[in-house]
Amino acid sequence: MLSVNIKMKTPAADRFIAFASIAALGMFTLTISFVRAQAFTTASASGSSAPSYSKTGELLFPSKYREWIYLSSGIDMNYNPKSASVDTPSHSTFDNVFVNPESYKTFLDSGAWPDKTVLVLELRGAQNKGSINQSGYYQSSVLKGIEMHVKDETRFPGKWAFFGFDNDNDVSGKLIPQSASCYSCHSEHGAVDTTFVQFYPTLLGIADKKGTFSPAYRKELRAAVPAKADPILR
Ligand code: HEC
Repeated sequence: MLSVNIKMKTPAADRFIAFASIAALGMFTLTISFVRAQAFTTASASGSSAPSYSKTGELLFPSKYREWIYLSSGIDMNYNPKSASVDTPSHSTFDNVFVNPESYKTFLDSGAWPDKTVLVLELRGAQNKGSINQSGYYQSSVLKGIEMHVKDETRFPGKWAFFGFDNDNDVSGKLIPQSASCYSCHSEHGAVDTTFVQFYPTLLGIADKKGTFSPAYRKELRAAVPAKADPILR
């Protein structure tokens, strides 16, 4: 043993020590990068998808929502029966709906929204004069507003809550009180769990197949198409 130790005190031994130190440094750096990567994944998961809140209970703006799953666009949708046939708005509005990717995947499998679902409604003006366009409308780059519908079962009394944002630079959005009409219209008319899946073409068939329509929506369907009733698409 002793002779080995003595023999190690050679240039080869020095090289070995140098190599071992570099390897150790390398491992250390790798560990640090791994830890940092993990921290980043966690931060971006909570920052861009699962809802997070400010200290005062405002919803932090999910800045990556434009990279989420696109569900639908409505134009000049009007929910007021009296004005529906009469009003042609002078300024048309598009609404675009997005949902966080994890919840979309769960919906594809189950026809239901999991906890921590975030749905975004983005409102944009309609334009018809620009570039080569001769007729029809395209969406303006100017935002008219953003609203969000968040499922956070332990946080909100009815499991869901609405938040309003003024624009896409907003740091956080205000909680809309439970007494607002948002809550009653969505729970009375939304096809699945207070959301308007009846207007989201890639999800309607799934909810139908999985049998997850709300009782209110089933009733609405029966009244509208008594002969067919539900399931509507089969
Ligand atoms: C009279 C009914 C009605 C009222 C009131 C209403 N909504 Fe909606 N909402 C709808 C319909 C219909 C859609 C589907 C839009 C589409 O298809 O583009 C929708 C979609 C949404 C979505 C997309 C996600 C989802 O739940 O389907 C959000 C977010 C939203 N509304 C927020 C609000 C907020 C915030 C308020 C209150 C300030 C509100 N809504 C009030 C009918 C309503």
